Amino acid sequence: HMIPATLIEGDGIGPEITASVVEILAKIGAPFEWDHQSGGLGAIEKFGAPLPQPTLDSIRKTGLALKGPLTTPVGAGFKSVNVTMRQEFGLYANLRPTRTVVPGGRFDKVDLVVVRENIEGLYAAMEHYLPDGDDPKGLAYGAGFNSRRECARIVRFAFDYAVANGRKKVTLVHKANILKIFSGIFLEEGRKVAKEYEGKVAVEERIVDACAMQLVTDPWQYDVIVTTNLFGDILSDLTAGLVGGLGMAPGANIGPNAAIFEAVHGSAPDIAGKGVANPLAMLMAASMMLAHVGRQDLSTRVDNAIDRVIRVEGVRTRDLGGETGTAELTKALLAAL
Ligand code: NAI
Ligand code: MG
Repeated sequence: HMIPATLIEGDGIGPEITASVVEILAKIGAPFEWDHQSGGLGAIEKFGAPLPQPTLDSIRKTGLALKGPLTTPVGAGFKSVNVTMRQEFGLYANLRPTRTVVPGGRFDKVDLVVVRENIEGLYAAMEHYLPDGDDPKGLAYGAGFNSRRECARIVRFAFDYAVANGRKKVTLVHKANILKIFSGIFLEEGRKVAKEYEGKVAVEERIVDACAMQLVTDPWQYDVIVTTNLFGDILSDLTAGLVGGLGMAPGANIGPNAAIFEAVHGSAPDIAGKGVANPLAMLMAASMMLAHVGRQDLSTRVDNAIDRVIRVEGVRTRDLGGETGTAELTKALLAAL
């Protein structure tokens, strides 16, 4: 049966990569019935908002979305689309798998997942200026919060993900040695949750700075990493860099009632309309979406086609140092399927 899902093609390279992904999904008979909605610049022109009400209504109804990159106008007073969606739909988990697809680099055979807490921590934007001597704005004050409930929920998400995906180890990443309460509460709750999975999934602990160092010296020791908002933001960009950068990095924002899948990269205005964008990050996001709705079989087919085209056939888009355009890569993927 068909599953209703919201589709936002997005700005810049969005329409090009979305067309590629939708064609590939159609070819394998993916069970999505697309509800086309607008977002980003296009939506601002039409509705006066980057994430207009009909789009929000659609996602509320379907609980499932594939989203192209949206251009955020700088300084125009619009709230970040990503922040709006996280709040609207309670998308507390940000899931970023990192897997080497392009062989022969410095980081071959990396296969790890970063699970980032998405709605608490230092991103609560409780910040303001304070006076410092004569300067009324001489001091910046910032604060955040981590709740026990949310720390436990995100760690449980990571362990459940590990169980469901045959992963062996979860690493709790923190800075509880310095932020004894603010980060300590995450570690405390993480340890409690880990006990429930004893004998099924191993647990480890790392201080975030040491983790960053080890991710570039020995990323192979990691399996699933779970951490709070700011640390996860930084570490998940780091891990994307290990395996070929933004064109190869998919992500999902998941909550109890909705899940939104997207590429990590933006709208790439510098290459928009030129037919050279790499659609693989968004295709990998679509593959995650297939797994999310229980179609692991189709997800594996997509992943295998990507592996075949990149590893065996040696196809490379411009961001991967090659010459292949979006349409040509799409053709190669369709043939591999
Ligand atoms: P960007 O990710 O769009 O581009 C950074 C660089 O990577 C550019 O040189 C671009 O050509 C290249 N690149 C990105 N994706 C690529 C792909 N699929 N294939 C080949 N090359 C690719 O980041 P930038 O330039 O900082 O942001 C542009 C716009 O995107 C901004 O308005 C920003 O706010 C928005 N943005 C939206 C995101 C989202 O909707 N999730 C995430 C990040 C940025
Ligand atoms: Mg980020």
